[in-house]
Amino acid sequence: MPTSTSIGVSARVRGFTYAIRNIVAEAKKVEATGRKVRYLNIGDPIPFGFHTPPHLIAAVEKAMRDGHNGYTSSAGVESARNAVANEYTSRGMPISADRAIITSGTSEGIELTLGALVDAGDEVLVPTPTYPLYTAVLSKLGARAVFYRTDPSNNWQPDLDDVRRLISPATRALVVIDPNNPTGAIYPEATRRALIELADQANIVLMADEVYGDLAFDGPAPLYGALAPDAPIISYSSLSKAYLAPGWRGGWMAVGRTERLNEVLAAIKKLADGRLCSPGPMQFAVEAALNGDRSHQASFVRELRVRADLTVSRLNASPHVRCVAPQAAFYVMPQVLLPQGKTDEDFVLGLLRNTGILCVYGSGFGMPADQGFFRIVYLASPDELSAIYDDLVQYVDHFVGQS
Ligand SMILES: Cc1ncc(COP(=O)(O)O)c(C=O)c1O
Repeated sequence: MPTSTSIGVSARVRGFTYAIRNIVAEAKKVEATGRKVRYLNIGDPIPFGFHTPPHLIAAVEKAMRDGHNGYTSSAGVESARNAVANEYTSRGMPISADRAIITSGTSEGIELTLGALVDAGDEVLVPTPTYPLYTAVLSKLGARAVFYRTDPSNNWQPDLDDVRRLISPATRALVVIDPNNPTGAIYPEATRRALIELADQANIVLMADEVYGDLAFDGPAPLYGALAPDAPIISYSSLSKAYLAPGWRGGWMAVGRTERLNEVLAAIKKLADGRLCSPGPMQFAVEAALNGDRSHQASFVRELRVRADLTVSRLNASPHVRCVAPQAAFYVMPQVLLPQGKTDEDFVLGLLRNTGILCVYGSGFGMPADQGFFRIVYLASPDELSAIYDDLVQYVDHFVGQS
């Protein structure tokens, strides 16, 4: 006799939350009522009319036609690994191709590294606000995210005293997202050096998420590994953002040359064996990207800057919103004045239901829910953004007027 009792899931899944996608379920409900939803929740340039460079598409197509449709070695094809090693070496972080691993996006590099580093109960220092994949993966592994503060009143710079204070014997890694999602901040060299020194002295891995490095408004951000090539730094990046191909799931990680990372590298490779390889044909775009024409980046960054300036000026014109100017990428994390008893989620859901504008609440990035932060992806065209900000600011006036 079949039973109707639901089959349970692991307790670890309960802590696995990814607000950027979870909130889409709410948007679908709003769409079902006939209202158009304007999706400003996910950092994907493609639906907003930006195009993958043709030479990358040609490289993938050629790989498929040339028969590269089988599994590759788990660390990736040689041409891609060499291109990554050359890229890092030429930018001041010398590594051999043996220390370059081709991954399914930055995401998989992060997941492989955390899997290689942490046991249940171990701690990893993560910024607040953070890109939520870090906390989600740590939850899945039964490890603990320990949050260090980045400060909106200081251009979202990290609080170094907080980082110093939070390092404990259980800490296994320090995550640095620079340029940052969700804040758009870039840290000055002195701050970067201080973060590296803290990781180096504690002998923990500095996980440098540099996926937005080439989308800095004042020119490509230098690599963390270039400041201290012998520190225990692992850098992550991908084709998703600066090469406009997020759906390809093509990425890489560069493991610093210090022997202190040899065991970690071996463990990462062991885990990578288990997933066979990242998508094969897309790996051929890595060489094309890193050794080929990058002129699309200058025009993309110019477009982003126009949208960033528009966003900041329009939001800060409201007496009820504060927005720190971003220095890279396509995100801002403004703060709205919350009426007594309201949360950031109340604001974001109210905005969605009343205007069709979908943002993500700050608590989805680890911010306290009563502070009123929310994240905007500003990839839409300036005209579209302008119309969106008209509606958003009007809704803010209505929301703040409630009590
Ligand atoms: C800071 C940060 N890290 C990693 C990722 C994941 O990117 P990928 O597509 O390379 O896996 C993102 C995507 O938005 C991100 O913002």
